[in-house]
Amino acid sequence: MIAEGKQKLYDETLRRTGDLIAGEDDPIAVMATVACELHHSFDHFDWTGFYRVVAPDLLKIGPYQGTHGCLQIPFDRGVCGTAARTRTTQLVPDVHQFPGYIACSGSTRSEIVVPVIMPNRALVAVFDIDSDMLDAFDELDKVNLEKVCALVGGAKWEVIQ
Ligand code: SME
Repeated sequence: MIAEGKQKLYDETLRRTGDLIAGEDDPIAVMATVACELHHSFDHFDWTGFYRVVAPDLLKIGPYQGTHGCLQIPFDRGVCGTAARTRTTQLVPDVHQFPGYIACSGSTRSEIVVPVIMPNRALVAVFDIDSDMLDAFDELDKVNLEKVCALVGGAKWEVIQ
């Protein structure tokens, strides 16, 4: 997809998703809606979902779209664990080159994982998107998915903490 069209699609998706979750104070409702809207907007998203921080060094599966995801991921494993541990977006063009990659689906070739951080700096989740294409994600995906995660981080996480 050319950059201009892709940015337009992100703008529309972000606007629609923002409208849908406006005023919603339940993080599960927010994550489920975001996963659904993003997953069905982009052809290169084959698995789209959240892993929640449930203990100091442990992620557990949250709302997602796609085939089944691993239930638990420690912070010291995989792309998701690395994003959680370092609190930085992990853009992985070829998952087979990533040390400690966790293969939930044999068809995944590339992946991007963005941390979800609350305004008080607490890490509450990571947003994981997998593609069956090699090198499917770029800086445009990174910038826009970080905007999505800023929206999600603004939800009232104390509801489930
Ligand atoms: N591949 C991820 C695990 C999650 S699944 O892809 C849904 C990782 O290495 O962290």
